[in-house]
Amino acid sequence: MTSQTHGQDHHGSGSTGTDGVQDVDAVVAEMMRQEFWDARYAGEGLAWSGDPNPQLVAEVADLEPGRALDVGCGEGGDAVWLARRGWDVTAADLSPLALVKVEAVAAAAGVGDRVRTLHLDAVAQAPEPAAYDLVSAAFLHLPPEPRAAAIAGLAAAVAPGGTLLWVAHSPLDLALPGHGPRPPQLMPTETEVAAALDPQAWSLEVVEARPRTRTGEDGTEVLHHDVVVRARRTG
Ligand SMILES: C[S@@+](CC[C@H](N)C(=O)[O-])C[C@H]1O[C@@H](n2cnc3c(N)ncnc32)[C@H](O)[C@@H]1O
Repeated sequence: MTSQTHGQDHHGSGSTGTDGVQDVDAVVAEMMRQEFWDARYAGEGLAWSGDPNPQLVAEVADLEPGRALDVGCGEGGDAVWLARRGWDVTAADLSPLALVKVEAVAAAAGVGDRVRTLHLDAVAQAPEPAAYDLVSAAFLHLPPEPRAAAIAGLAAAVAPGGTLLWVAHSPLDLALPGHGPRPPQLMPTETEVAAALDPQAWSLEVVEARPRTRTGEDGTEVLHHDVVVRARRTG
């Protein structure tokens, strides 16, 4: 398993084909299966960098720590960062093998007592309602209907006054150089994500496609855009 930085390629392997609709649909269906993600986390090393996502750092650094739910937590880079800042974190993922990594990473970071793990399919199961001061999902890429179900469940898990943060690859990147083939249906705009939240119950604080650069494998700078939606539950 190669080491990757956050946001480098959260869409599976470079063999992801987008040549035909059927191929793309098959790839997307595969990426929704636990086995797909278990295979990613089955190796000895880490699939991701272990660093927190920069958009999480930017959006959460000023919040008062409380109870946080990180959904699609992967190996726990964000969960450990939150725990270090005093959050009481539930790290949730579809892949039990990812959660094994989270436990090891959190223990090694000395925050094992602040990070508990939860096996959760965010499409099929809603987390405990109104239980968290922060619910964060970073690069949880799903096709439209499952995405709507996941956002609804995650939004309901935010306690009144709490924050929902959704970070994802932007469809702006589909047309940019340096990006591998990606199923476009996994990449909603920030406006689409924001529109999933009831305006009677949510205050939209950030709705952006935020530019970010990373150094590619060949040493060149690659421009990315992260969809960042941060909303506060008012109702
Ligand atoms: C691209 S990785 C992102 C991991 C981490 N958030 C990060 O930013 O590095 C997507 C994660 O979402 C998890 N995932 C995929 N579908 C899921 C679902 N339906 N419910 C919960 N987690 C899911 C995968 O197992 C994987 O760990």
